[in-house]
Amino acid sequence: MIRITGISGSLRKGSFNTALLRAVTQILPSDCNLEVVRLNEIPLYNADVEASEGIPVPVQNLKDMIANCDALLLATPEYNSSIPGVFKNGIDWLSRPTEDIARIFRNKPVGIIGASTGSFGTMLSQVAWLPVLRALGTRVWFGRTCYISNAETVFDESGQLVDKGAFGRLEAYISGFVEFTRQVTQERE
Ligand code: FNR
Repeated sequence: MIRITGISGSLRKGSFNTALLRAVTQILPSDCNLEVVRLNEIPLYNADVEASEGIPVPVQNLKDMIANCDALLLATPEYNSSIPGVFKNGIDWLSRPTEDIARIFRNKPVGIIGASTGSFGTMLSQVAWLPVLRALGTRVWFGRTCYISNAETVFDESGQLVDKGAFGRLEAYISGFVEFTRQVTQERE
């Protein structure tokens, strides 16, 4: 079984990015499992809190979940042409303490998808993630891209991805990303 952790970078109940991850669960082959995670319980990073209280429980739990999965799938919104602070804050907490980065992130296959109401579908925020993911030593999959633009027109009111073109692009991305994850997992065994 290939275990994928999908993190939505939006706290919003009706988030298009969380809905995008739900659409991924409909696409995955039967030997893959996607657990969708939101960051609502993750506090703002504060080095004083880390020094006095250590790693908060929700952060520790998410770290362990990622350490135990085969791949990470980021569904990123885009704010002001870059990464939303909420999402970056979450990944920053996950990178603490530094000595633990290798356990959580090193050589972890990472996919990046995203939905936005703009015309470029998170292209700029996806690019903005690259130096972060490089710093953490992950293996980002570059075989395809998946930018879901004009999100309010491709999801219906219940959050279903109803646009056939967008669904097809997501399917193609996920199919390639799963194969990449299989290869990396086999290399490790
Ligand atoms: C946005 N949005 C946005 N969209 C985009 O394509 N490019 C951008 O630069 C921005 N900038 C931006 C800044 C801020 C502060 C907000 C609140 C929003 C719109 C964004 O795509 C839209 O709110 C999405 O619905 C956010 O994703 P979720 O919450 O639906 O997952």
